[in-house]
Amino acid sequence: MERGKELLRLLDRLGAEKGAKPAQIALAWILSRKPWIVPIPGSRKPEQLKENIGAAEISLSPQVISDIDTMLDTMDPLVLADHSAQESEETVVSLSVFIPGGFSMFNFDYYNPTHIVFGEDRIGELAKLIPEKSRVLMTYGGGSAKRSGLIGKIQASLGNIASFEFGGIEPNPRYETLIKAIDIIKKERIDFLLAVGGGSVIDGTKFLALAAKCKGNPQDLLKFGLAPIPPEVSSEALPIGVVLTLPATGSEMNSGAVISLGHSKLPVMSGLVFPRFSILDPTITYTLPKVQVANGIVDAFVHTTEQYLTFPVAAPLQDRMAEGILQTLIEIGETSVNEPENYDARASHVWSATMALNGIIAVGVPQDWATHMIGHELTALFSIDHGQTLAIILPSLLDVRRKQKRAKLIQYAERVWNVASGSDDDKVEAAISKTREFFERLGVKTRLSQYGVGAERIPEVVAQLKEHGMTALSETGDLDLATSEKILRNAL
Ligand code: NZQ
Ligand code: ZN
Repeated sequence: MERGKELLRLLDRLGAEKGAKPAQIALAWILSRKPWIVPIPGSRKPEQLKENIGAAEISLSPQVISDIDTMLDTMDPLVLADHSAQESEETVVSLSVFIPGGFSMFNFDYYNPTHIVFGEDRIGELAKLIPEKSRVLMTYGGGSAKRSGLIGKIQASLGNIASFEFGGIEPNPRYETLIKAIDIIKKERIDFLLAVGGGSVIDGTKFLALAAKCKGNPQDLLKFGLAPIPPEVSSEALPIGVVLTLPATGSEMNSGAVISLGHSKLPVMSGLVFPRFSILDPTITYTLPKVQVANGIVDAFVHTTEQYLTFPVAAPLQDRMAEGILQTLIEIGETSVNEPENYDARASHVWSATMALNGIIAVGVPQDWATHMIGHELTALFSIDHGQTLAIILPSLLDVRRKQKRAKLIQYAERVWNVASGSDDDKVEAAISKTREFFERLGVKTRLSQYGVGAERIPEVVAQLKEHGMTALSETGDLDLATSEKILRNAL
């Protein structure tokens, strides 16, 4: 933080000495690097453009160039970007010219082995998807899959494959519940898990897949947060198949899970638990209560914004894919909630939710999971549904963090909400209010107080965040406990 300010002071001082703006000094520095470097600073105002051109007239002495170099050498570019967002507009210009065009796409690996089996009436293919001699444990939730006849249908399609059942996995699946399945897995020599449910059942089943093969204490699997479980703790897992009943979490095509223990929601990440296949039949979701459909839209929407509303990098394809998911959710969201048997709306809902968190839009770009991390504490403490916690936190977080996310908020307003007129400030404002209004239109309340949580409970939430090490959230790690508290108060 201090280093960023020092750099700004240096630019100010050099600018004052030369009668130039700090941004011009920064540009002149870039021009001094190599004769073939052409800075391309972005500018929305003609005055800024003239100012930038003026930088070509400024020549910097070798000593000045070396002073700037020395300072930059000791700084992390992420810190630079973050400061540019926190400071005045003048400063934003001066710092952003150090990163002309912003950041390049980050390096990445992408791997996703899940076979998606999409469409109506695909359950009949289960016997082809599961290895012939398997001994299958079907896992499911509190009973909706039984009541709808889905479990019976699945049993019928498994034919001669040996199958067993473990029901009763609750929303926000609990360690204490899941661990009871380990005895059945061992006793019946289960070698394939078939999750029939939404995020909770799928996540719980991922945990079981790891726990069944884990040599030490299965509770240790919950200790690694968002870091992958290391191979010395877990090197094997049972294979998993999925029949999705609730489109929301993306768990059907990713390698993450969230398991509850005490008052904690603990992430579990392991490449070993990508489902082998996931059957996504939109008609299976017709029995969902409206509230869960709406939660699902919000969850998929916020997964997308957490990978999109950060700071700009040169990743236009990822941006447009994210914008496509957001626009689709806006387009079909209300229909999916209000017309439960509208196949077309539900099919797009299902596929958007899967695409929002199968890793594809995350490649090469920054991510900010602060809304989720704060939201998890609200579920753990007050049992507010996952999707509802996100509808409470996201609009408030965008409001509090509007400076840091300014460039992407303007892009979001223009490209996702089609806000064409007004100043940049107006666009940021519109983006935030349109997001809140969208959640409200789906029937999801966006204020903490509407869920019976008042200001007096906020210190508990902050204490939980501290206990769980959530003290440096956001795309740059600068969102501390005081900011989380501000976001929570702003959400009341
Ligand atoms: O338990 P049953 O009786 O099946 O009822 C469920 C449950 O009460 C019901 N339901 C599901 N499908 C139905 C249905 N009711 C009628 N018809 C159907 N077809 O819906 C209720 C909620 O189910 P749940 O699985 O809890 O919801 P969701 O899919 O939203 O999952 C939420 C869980 O996923 C975690 C959350 O933290 C939460 O624990 N997440 C997992 C992620 C991941 N693995 O990548 C990412 C997410 O951000 C999220 O954190
Ligand atoms: Zn989520």
